Amino acid sequence: MQTNPTQLTDLQKLGYLNAPIPKDVDLVAAIQQLKKEKNAVLLAHYYQDAAIQELADYLGDSLYLAQMAAKVDAAIIVFAGVHFMAETAKIINPTKKVLLPDLKAGCSLADSCPPADFAAFKAQHPNAVVVTYINCSAEIKALSDIVCTSSNAKRVIDSIPMDREIIFAPDRNLGRYLMKETGREMLLWDGSCIVHEAFSFDKIVALSKANPTAKFIAHPESESPVLEVAHYIGSTSGLLNFVQKDPATTYIVATEAGILHEMQKQCPEKTFIPAPVEDETCACSECAYMKLNTLEKLYNCMRHEQPEILLDETLMTSARQPIERMLALG
Ligand code: 13P
Ligand code: SF4
Repeated sequence: MQTNPTQLTDLQKLGYLNAPIPKDVDLVAAIQQLKKEKNAVLLAHYYQDAAIQELADYLGDSLYLAQMAAKVDAAIIVFAGVHFMAETAKIINPTKKVLLPDLKAGCSLADSCPPADFAAFKAQHPNAVVVTYINCSAEIKALSDIVCTSSNAKRVIDSIPMDREIIFAPDRNLGRYLMKETGREMLLWDGSCIVHEAFSFDKIVALSKANPTAKFIAHPESESPVLEVAHYIGSTSGLLNFVQKDPATTYIVATEAGILHEMQKQCPEKTFIPAPVEDETCACSECAYMKLNTLEKLYNCMRHEQPEILLDETLMTSARQPIERMLALG
C-alpha cells in the first residue's frame, strides 16, 4: 500500500491524529520520553515551528535530512517535514518505520508534477538525462536518473556530460537559476512553490531602500526578478551559513519564515526580516503544508506510531537508485 497526502488511513479517519490530549501533559517532555521509549529519532526541517525544531535530533535542509535518514539506526524515524521528505527517508532506509505527524503535509511543487504527464514529457525526449529536485513524489523519482536538492543541484548538473540533453523538474525557478549558474540549457518542467512565488519584487526593493545596510538573501525557488536583486542565493543551510559568516548585521530573507528561528539562534545580535509578500492578508511566507505539523500531532503520532509511510516495494526500488546517486555525489 502507498500513502500520499490525499489518502487518509482508516486510523486517521477515526481521528487519532487529533485525539484529545489531557491538559496536564507536558508535550515537550512527553515527546522526549517517547523518543527514548520507542527508540525513535526526530528529523526536522528548518521550516517547522520553532518548538518542533527545538525537539529535533537532526535539524537541517533537505540534503542533510536525507543523509541523516540514510544513516539512522533507530527503530523509528519521525519526520517533521512534508510528505516527500518522509517518503525519501522510507525509500533510502526501508527497514525503518517512518512516521509523518500529518499525512496531509504535502508540497505544491511536488503536486505540480503529476507522474503520467511527466512520463509523457520524458517520452518526448528519450535521450535526455532526467534530473529531479527532491521536492517530488516517489513516482517522479522513479522516472529520474538522478535526484538533487538546492544544496547540491549545481554539482549534480556539473556531473552530467556536456553533450547530454537534460530534463530538470519540477521547479522552473530553480531550473532557470541553475541554467545561469551552470551555463547549461535544460528542458524545464513548469512547476513552482507557492511560498517562494508569493514574494513581492516591488516590496523587496522598497524594503531594501528603507534598510540600506540590509543584505537581501533568497532561496533559489524564488522567481528570477527576485533572485536578480539578491546579494546571496542558496538553500536553507546555505542561507544560514551565509548569515553566520557575513559581516552585515541586517538581512531581508526570502524563504519560508521558519528558518528565521535558527538564524536568530545562531546570530542573536543580528536582525532578520522576512521578505514581504504580495498578499498582505495572508501569512504567505509560511508554508501551510509544513505548518500542519504541530506539537500535539507529533505527540499523538509518536504515541500511536501513525501515520506511517508505506510504499510499494517495486516503486521504492525504482526510486532508490536516483536518490543513492545523489547521495554518492555528496
Ligand atoms: P532546502 O532546505 O533543501 O533548501 O529546501 C527548501 C524547501 O523548499 C523544502 O521544502
Ligand atoms: Fe513545498 Fe514550497 Fe512548502 Fe517547500 S516551501 S514544502 S517547496 S510548498
